Formats: sequence, structure tokens, C-alpha cells
Amino acid sequence: MSIKISPSILAADFANLSEECSKIDKSNADWFHLDIMDGLFVPNISFGMPVVRTIRQLTKKPLDVHLMIVQPEKYITEFINLGSNIITVHIEATNNLNQIINKIHESSLKSGIAINPQTPISDLKEYINKVDLICLMGVNPGFAGQKFIESTHERLQELKHLIISSGSSALIEVDGGVNKENYQQLKSNGADVLVAGSYIFNSPNYNIAIDNLK
Ligand code: DX5
Ligand code: ZN
Repeated sequence: MSIKISPSILAADFANLSEECSKIDKSNADWFHLDIMDGLFVPNISFGMPVVRTIRQLTKKPLDVHLMIVQPEKYITEFINLGSNIITVHIEATNNLNQIINKIHESSLKSGIAINPQTPISDLKEYINKVDLICLMGVNPGFAGQKFIESTHERLQELKHLIISSGSSALIEVDGGVNKENYQQLKSNGADVLVAGSYIFNSPNYNIAIDNLK
């Protein structure tokens, strides 16, 4: 299976959102990565439901929704109804992960758990056979354009080992700071999906940037 690319729309030009989405829609990108930030779980506020609804109308590609919000359980139904395909919540943001995962699966959507750079990989053990995806953060969540944290490479190896030893079929998504310097190592260490924001949207040709990561 070739690696999937999920461009982070947070780094797009919002004055031309429809054109930006159309370019990604026509590219070889696999998913659209939508970063939802509430100013509480992370020190930044991004965008919310109206933007997700708009993007849903602009593409048929899967919407990979990354919730960086406190009390995500309050909003799962709404994000399901907006047409999300994958809903990822942070392990640090809730004590109700099992309930959230069940709710997402009842609607036949894919579930994901995101994990911050400081959170031990072993915290994922009890969920690793229940979720479809683990989103391994390569930066502290909150902003696009941050520098990749190098220890993510070791964490990726540890996560890959946990997945294999548990017989889990969860995909590994790496999110934050992905670029042409680190993608090769991420791929060889077992990443299945790469999220990229600034690397794609700051490049002159999105198709070439996306194909470079593939
Ligand atoms: C960080 C977000 C990422 C980010 C990726 O909080 O979850 O998805 O937008 O952007 P780059 O690739 O610029 O780090
Ligand atoms: Zn993200």
C-alpha cells in the first residue's frame, strides 16, 4: 500500500478556500485534514462547523477531522452529521474515549486517537485494538508551520512495535512538521498517512509537493 497524504487545510489561503480545495481535490492527495481548535485544549482557535460543511461540499475525498478540543464527546454527533469520514480525538482531552470510539463506529465512520509529543505511547495500549488510526503528533498541537520534533522518529518505532505486537490494524498518521527532509524516514519506520500543511501550501505547485511525499 502506498502512503496516504492528508493535506492540512489550516495552512491554505482562506481568502481562496474554494480554489485551494479544488486544487487538493484534483491532486493525488488521499484525504483532507481538518484541524479543529478551540483555544482551550490548544492555544489557538482555527475554524469550526461552517468551514467543515463548506469543505464537505467542495470534495468527495474523505474528511480527516482532527479535534483539538476539550470535551470532544459533546461534539461527536455534530461532526458525524457534517459528513466527516474519520474523526480523531486527543487521548489527553477526555476520559470518555471508549464511549466516543463506539459512537463513531455506530455511524460506520473511522475513529482515531491523537497523541501529543509528551504523552507516553504506552497510554494507547488499551485502545490499540479498538481504533482505526493513531495520529502521532510531530509538533505540539496548535499551529501549522512548526519545526518537527526529532524524537517523534523513536516514538513512531515504539508505536509501530505496539501495533504489531497487539495484532492491531490501526493506521499510523504522522501530523506536524512533515516535510521533504523527514518523510522518507517516517515512511520507512511505518507511517501509513502523512499530514502536511505548510510543506504543501507554501510550495509553488501542490501536485508536485504531494507527489514528492508519496
Ligand atoms: C497542528 C495541526 C497540524 C498542522 C500541520 O496542531 O494538527 O495538522 O496544521 O501543519 P504543518 O504541516 O505546517 O506542521
Ligand atoms: Zn492536525
